[in-house]
Amino acid sequence: MTSDKKAVLFFFPEWGGMHLTAWRDPAAPQDPTMDFATIKTMVRKAEQAKFHGFFLADTLAIRHSLSSRALSRTAKAVRFEPLTLMAALSGYTEHIGLLMTASTTYNEPYHVARQFASLDHLSGGRAGWNVVTSGTPAESSNFGREAHMPHDQRYRRAGEFFEAVTGLWDSFDDDAFERDKASGRYFDPGKMHELNYRGEFLSVAGPLTVARPIQGRPVIAQAGSSDTGRAFAAGIADVIYTLQPSLEQGRTFYADVKTQVADRGRDPDHVKVLPALVTVIGRTEAEAQDMLALLDSLVDDHVGLEQLAAVLETDLSSYPLDGPVPDIQETAIGAKTRQRYFLSKAREQNMTVRELMRFAARIGAVAHTPESIADHIEEWLHADAADGFNITFADTGASLDNWLHFVVPELQRRGLFHEDYSGTTLRENLGIPRPRSRYVAEAARS
Ligand SMILES: Cc1cc2nc3c(=O)[nH]c(=O)nc-3n(C[C@H](O)[C@H](O)[C@H](O)COP(=O)(O)O)c2cc1C
Repeated sequence: MTSDKKAVLFFFPEWGGMHLTAWRDPAAPQDPTMDFATIKTMVRKAEQAKFHGFFLADTLAIRHSLSSRALSRTAKAVRFEPLTLMAALSGYTEHIGLLMTASTTYNEPYHVARQFASLDHLSGGRAGWNVVTSGTPAESSNFGREAHMPHDQRYRRAGEFFEAVTGLWDSFDDDAFERDKASGRYFDPGKMHELNYRGEFLSVAGPLTVARPIQGRPVIAQAGSSDTGRAFAAGIADVIYTLQPSLEQGRTFYADVKTQVADRGRDPDHVKVLPALVTVIGRTEAEAQDMLALLDSLVDDHVGLEQLAAVLETDLSSYPLDGPVPDIQETAIGAKTRQRYFLSKAREQNMTVRELMRFAARIGAVAHTPESIADHIEEWLHADAADGFNITFADTGASLDNWLHFVVPELQRRGLFHEDYSGTTLRENLGIPRPRSRYVAEAARS
């Protein structure tokens, strides 16, 4: 137990609220999903709340898991392309980290290396890449593929992809650019490197057409939870996202990945484990519960059952809504972690199909007061089940305001959260060192 441990907190926004019906809250403004002005205001609030970073998840397909009728009753069909949005937001923020997903299955490393290196320069060293292998089979048909690559192949490709991207980021040494007007030499050619990467899936020559990122390497996040995924994350990630249903399971996961990190010769303190926490924050318990109850009451049964089927990859509509959740086998291709999370919650709480359906519509959200969420964060931090959290709000606005005005002061009062940003880059704010270029490290060894 480390009693001086402070939480790393990321804001993980769903602009229109995570709950399936949040956009219908009569008191909420028009859904802001495609409204840049509102998104800008929310991100500035997140920066005022001193979140270390904010993280945009992404999927490269519309939700085929919901029928068009069900999808048309949610605010989940459209969203901004995250890199474009991040680039715009980088100009309206100064401190908060800007992390986003890019798929290693449906991209080329040269694209991703250029994009994240550019975002890192644009933002003064605040970029982060969530390396995903794409768990959504529907993505394949948007990229001319007949089928989604199997899980193990996706991870093998991801390993190559990571090697190639990080190699490309080292194309130019940090001090390569002389820009010497008198001699006429813009950069030192001895400090430019060709990667010439060749693997089973990918080949890329380099060099990259962007200078080395300000952070050397943007912060790397990963959310793999299968055995293959955990091993991959332990080898490459600075931040590990996860979904953990209970403190005990959280502790087991934390101990496992930290051990794997150490086994790879990496410092476990430099890898931050952040479970996701979906919540509604009320000033009182009743206020938070009322908000969740209101959103639950707006769930259409058909939409709720389809959403549940999308998570479980199993249709439960033939089972009685008020009967117990039946035994379900895990499926191989999709997001194993989410299935496990929902099924283990259902078992733990003896849920009926209707209760699990509501839990799915809430995307797991739990009602909290500023004190109860601070208790939760404190408990997980001190039990070594987390280094912090990825915070998502189920509703469209009140929770973010309550977080800023009540949760942050409570956490700071307890010594659980930083008083201010301590550095200028995201790495500095997370206390994670800037990696040396592989070429400089090699030269130092020889
Ligand atoms: C907090 C969190 C965020 C995630 N964000 C994305 C995302 O943006 N895009 C995506 O395709 N998968 C995302 N995932 C899914 C993971 O990348 C991963 O595929 C999933 O946890 C299953 O693990 P596995 O791939 O090792 O089986 C996320 C998972 C978590 C827990």
